[in-house]
Amino acid sequence: MGPLGLIDGRVIDLDEKIVRMEDRGHQFGDGAYEVTKVYNGKLFAYEPHLARLERSLQELRIPLEYSMIDLVRFHELLIEKSEIKEGNIYLQVTRGTAPRVHNFPGTVKSCLTMSIRPSGSNTELREKGVKAITVPDERWLRCDIKSLNLLGNVLAKQQAKEAGFYEAILVRDGYLTEGSSSNFYAIKDGEIWTHPVNNLILNGITRKIVIDIARSLNIKVIETPFTVEFAQSCDETFLTSTTNEVMPVIGVGSKKINNGIVGPVTRKLQQAYTNKVDTECQWVG
Ligand code: PDD
Repeated sequence: MGPLGLIDGRVIDLDEKIVRMEDRGHQFGDGAYEVTKVYNGKLFAYEPHLARLERSLQELRIPLEYSMIDLVRFHELLIEKSEIKEGNIYLQVTRGTAPRVHNFPGTVKSCLTMSIRPSGSNTELREKGVKAITVPDERWLRCDIKSLNLLGNVLAKQQAKEAGFYEAILVRDGYLTEGSSSNFYAIKDGEIWTHPVNNLILNGITRKIVIDIARSLNIKVIETPFTVEFAQSCDETFLTSTTNEVMPVIGVGSKKINNGIVGPVTRKLQQAYTNKVDTECQWVG
């Protein structure tokens, strides 16, 4: 087997035509999503992902037709049917299908779609590190909601790609917020700096795991906004996301970080993250 889709609990071929013309996700980006990682045929950190989905949907006032237990079951169904051991599961909930008006339609049933795909390996990138550019953060002011509206993120990432960089780090009012699809960190004198959780960034699940790991290793974490110049003067920089895990950033704009070599604190966090994944997703029996 291979990549598969699921709509409202039914497993489908990914190519099956299921998008309704007037689905509000399709027309307005009116919905929320999550991306969860599968290691060794097991879902990793699904509880915080589903809790964040619940929060996003509450903020958008989209009722979910399914319980959290149903959602776990759907994830497991996709893993089982696809036989994918190392993969990414994408899930989105839209407000549903109704004649197009901006305000919420009176009676509408939200629509859940999911898909699973094998994850490509980025081991080599995690070994050598990547470069990031800084671009203006032109997104809306509710970046804490994992909404389907990603145009600001899409345009920023494309700008990075076209300029030969892996990620775009977004800058609002002179301060770095986060990456176009990741959270961003700078390390100075052994201390980790990152933007605080508020409406300007997504409260990353990997961010929380990595901060907890750092604190358990007695590494100080300072959740305060900082500037591009500060990041460029740092000993190490890195980014995190579900798919990237802990990704070293060895250049910010035209400035090399640590002479383009991955630093020791980043390495320590990478190792601890891998250990956590191995422990939580090991084969049993
Ligand atoms: N993106 N910030 C933004 C804007 C993101 O899109 C993401 C994740 C993160 C990191 O969140 P987490 O650690 O929970 O994955 C931060 C996902 C992976 C995506 O859109 O594909």
